[in-house]
Amino acid sequence: MTINRRVLLTGAITAGGAVTLAGCAAEPASVETTPPSATVEDAPTEMTGEQLLGPAAEIMVGSGKKYEIDNALTILVTRPAEDTFRAFNATCTHAGCIVTGVRENQIACGCHGARFDPDSGAVQSGPAKSPLGKIMVEVRGSDLYAII
Ligand code: FES
Repeated sequence: MTINRRVLLTGAITAGGAVTLAGCAAEPASVETTPPSATVEDAPTEMTGEQLLGPAAEIMVGSGKKYEIDNALTILVTRPAEDTFRAFNATCTHAGCIVTGVRENQIACGCHGARFDPDSGAVQSGPAKSPLGKIMVEVRGSDLYAII
């Protein structure tokens, strides 16, 4: 069996075309671009380190209010005196429950009965052994801001 020159050339051209097509097929498909990154103006407030909690008037003297900032942080703001606001990480230092709130001048945890001072966050009765974590809170105008 002999292969003539014409068949050989046709085969070479076909093979070259296949290589070219294969090269085209290997190019990546166009990819949709993602939108530009958020600007500073678009950034959520928690990224700035300050969090608007709400009107200070919502918290009566001797009481407290919880603010869920995100899945990892709930803040309890207490008002032990007319012009005094305190803020704490509401996660109980005993076993991680979110404290219930302020009751009878104590921050109460409903899980196992720990009690904390609403002015300092110090343990008043166990089983918790460590105070609640303090968080800075400021009154600006009529609103409360947490500095996280
Ligand atoms: S988690 Fe609060 S007392 Fe146990």
